Amino acid sequence: MSTVKVVDHPMIQHKLSIMRDKNTGTKDFRELLDEIAMLMAYEVTRDLPLVDVEVETPITKMTAKMIQGPDIGIIPILRAGLGMVNGIQRLVPSAKIGHIGLYRDPETLEPVEYYCKLPSDAESRQLFVVDPMLATGGSAIDAVTLIKKKGCKNIRLVCLIAAPEGIEAFTKAHPDVNLYVAAVDEKLNDHGYIVPGLGDAGDRLYGTK
Ligand code: PRP
Ligand code: URA
Repeated sequence: MSTVKVVDHPMIQHKLSIMRDKNTGTKDFRELLDEIAMLMAYEVTRDLPLVDVEVETPITKMTAKMIQGPDIGIIPILRAGLGMVNGIQRLVPSAKIGHIGLYRDPETLEPVEYYCKLPSDAESRQLFVVDPMLATGGSAIDAVTLIKKKGCKNIRLVCLIAAPEGIEAFTKAHPDVNLYVAAVDEKLNDHGYIVPGLGDAGDRLYGTK
């Protein structure tokens, strides 16, 4: 069964509250999402296995620790997921990036796929699928299904805000995928938007509305 980890560090809560404010503009919204993604990556990578390595400091030789692997892949769900890539990549500079293009049909709320390009060795990597919003869960469920069809197994989902409905649907569809969120909100409204949420993440990130 998947675990749901709420990464509610005070710095994350503070930055998220500014993002939620409807008066926060595109530049600040983009920078805050980037910063929160980096802070969340700290928690998402917490249990990566370490290996002993010999290091010579200016004083003496020692046995030190380094991350053993596996290598990391970051898979943003377009568009809004792109806003989380740089922050995570700052913490994991060697990560390769894949892209999955999905949008939610405004009438049916069903995800529609339009692009998928993963690193050639994606199946051997630890993958972080990123998207700020987990609303009905449809987009994240389809993205992970697509990645699994390409042979990938080690997958974690990283979101900013989740609705309880999305968490339930996602963990039911992918019980082997652990979920990291900064906040769990109250509910979905009739249009499938998270309440209180932050509105349309893609539009706020790119200034398209
Ligand atoms: C948003 C968001 C998620 C999806 C969440 O993307 O970034 O991908 O909706 O909703 P769901 O959990 O109900 O599927 P959107 O479809 O608006 O596309 P965009 O990022 O291109 O704006
Ligand atoms: N997509 C968003 O960008 N925001 C929501 O609240 C729900 C789906």
